[in-house]
Amino acid sequence: MVDKTIQERAARLRELIHYHDYRYYVLDRPEISDAEYDRLFRELEELEARYPELVTSDSPTQRVGGRPAEKFESVAHRQPMLSLENAFSEGEAREFEQRLQRFLRSQAGLSYVVEPKMDGVAVNLVYENCHLAWGATRGDGFRGENVTQNLKTIRTIPLKLQGDKLPALLEVRGEVYMEVAQFKKLNRDREARGEPAFANPRNAAAGSLRQLDPAVTAGRPLKIFCYGVGEVQGGEFASQWEVLQTLQAWGLRVNPHIDRQQGIEAAIAYHHRLEEQRHGLPYEIDGVVIKVDSLELQARLGVKTRSPRWALAYKFKATQATTQVKKIIVQVGRTGAVTPTAVMTPVEVGGVTVSRATLHNEDEVVRKDVREGDWVLIQRAGDVIPEVVQVIASQRTGQEKPFKMPSNCPVCDTPLVRPPGEAVTRCPNPDCSAQLKRAIRHFASKGAMDIDGLGEKIVEQLVENGLVQDVADLYRLQVTDLTPLERFAEKSAQNIVQAIRGSKKPTLGRFIFALGIRYVGEATANLLAGHFCTLQALQEAGLEELLRVEGVGPQVAGSIREYFDNAKNRALLTKLLEAGVRPEGPGRPQAAPLAGKTFVFTGGLQHFSREEAKALVTALGGKVSSSVSARTDYVVVGEEPGSKYAKARELGVEILDEADFGKLVGRKS
Ligand code: IVH
Repeated sequence: MVDKTIQERAARLRELIHYHDYRYYVLDRPEISDAEYDRLFRELEELEARYPELVTSDSPTQRVGGRPAEKFESVAHRQPMLSLENAFSEGEAREFEQRLQRFLRSQAGLSYVVEPKMDGVAVNLVYENCHLAWGATRGDGFRGENVTQNLKTIRTIPLKLQGDKLPALLEVRGEVYMEVAQFKKLNRDREARGEPAFANPRNAAAGSLRQLDPAVTAGRPLKIFCYGVGEVQGGEFASQWEVLQTLQAWGLRVNPHIDRQQGIEAAIAYHHRLEEQRHGLPYEIDGVVIKVDSLELQARLGVKTRSPRWALAYKFKATQATTQVKKIIVQVGRTGAVTPTAVMTPVEVGGVTVSRATLHNEDEVVRKDVREGDWVLIQRAGDVIPEVVQVIASQRTGQEKPFKMPSNCPVCDTPLVRPPGEAVTRCPNPDCSAQLKRAIRHFASKGAMDIDGLGEKIVEQLVENGLVQDVADLYRLQVTDLTPLERFAEKSAQNIVQAIRGSKKPTLGRFIFALGIRYVGEATANLLAGHFCTLQALQEAGLEELLRVEGVGPQVAGSIREYFDNAKNRALLTKLLEAGVRPEGPGRPQAAPLAGKTFVFTGGLQHFSREEAKALVTALGGKVSSSVSARTDYVVVGEEPGSKYAKARELGVEILDEADFGKLVGRKS
């Protein structure tokens, strides 16, 4: 018999660790440092190693206790796990409410709980006397696979419920998922080991949960959000809202975006708001679930064969689609970068029709083995250019044609170059008309000279007809130059000429950006403008002076020098000045909304390079530091954050994810 004080200590440690797991994993508000937590955990591990009789099945040390299984046994859910009826439009959502009102013979407004529809794997967790007894996948809705050992490895699933008025038996329904950043990292690691990549986070979550060896699952970053209950013995709820609040109080993780809305119009508005936010969330959601809040009404409404009458999955527009690659072409960019691009049978993705998807570079085409004629899965995330996710290998006929990077530029026929160690192939000819077209589009773009109306077709015609040989030529265009061009009305010709003339006084920052100097994005251009105040000062600055600008490193500085040392570029600047283009220096200091704020970055960002992120902060008057202290205002956390993240949590410093950061610096990511 183990000494009583030791028994008590082990019990106390289990309690403490459960509590801190809840603070950390469920509430996301830890109270103690990671180091302190590790101390508690180790102490319990040591006690259990010395006195194995102290080990309980719900001990936090037992999350990866199970042995590999031969296969999963099938278990019956106590209450069936239903599915949901889908709606794809506002009209269908409104019909849902009308059906409810007809069924209830009442025109009274209905109260709904609205929840993100997680795109993961549905599971059923059974708590008996507050302990996680077993858990299973949804299966056919009546019987699922017993994956208890694997579920126990998920840190956001409590092994024991906490709080009061706990039921004797509780079936909890939730969705196991993988965050997008973690999914990408998992795929990178798998590819490095020569293992096949998962197509999407849902498949990765499902595959991870169905591993026969729980140790493999334990290594996969799975999480859960709980959204409902099945059988409950020894407890009652009046509403879905109360269910969700109570689950959270018992230590189960509930999505923070859940809400309550009166009437279907408000629920539809919630759907639209969430659809806008969806790409800023760290996990994938594919719609909104609208549930009648009152459980009494739910009981009256009842269920149809497989789905309840009281709930509706109002889906977002799909962001993935499958289509066929007709051809793989290469496109030449403004800097001469040559990008392989899949030309596909047009298909609707996320509400727009796409017919092209980027394949990034030669290595990517090889890695994904995309061939002409292949069926592919493509995806669009936010405003980003669609990309090819993977080939659907099972649809191959053998007639597909592998891609070969051309040896010469498809536009000017100059031999292409790919410097050793670089992924990008380039056309080295600065006079290549493809580069000129891109340069003009960039020059005219919103963050640059902001010239309205200079779209792809028009630029194409201007270049093809020899009307514009560099961006300065734009300022010589007359209405009569344009009207003979195909599909050019007098009025639109006038508008364009007006717009070009109206762009002669850009800010210096916009002008620098418009030049299209390699590595000089919007943020860097503004920094340079703020530092040098005139174009001439920038043009004359040596490397050393350039490096003194915060956010400018050797690569950027070198590229700026190279640009201004090139006689052709200098001639272009003179020509622009002669045409009357006069960038206006920043004059008085620009607004500094982040003045006095110190930022620390940890982990990789998806939409900003570290350089750019830092430049954005400094451009807005903020400071960037490399270590977290009590004086740090914000810690921006990306993929695979380091110890700075833990430090920030410990010190209670405000933590921003990439989307928060984007908003703060006024940039949609
Ligand atoms: S409620 C009777 N709520 O969607 C209600 N389901 O198509 C049954 N899902 O199998 C489900 N998020 O995997 C509900 N907030 C949410 C959900 C959700 C994701 C999934 C779940 C279910 C499927 C139904």
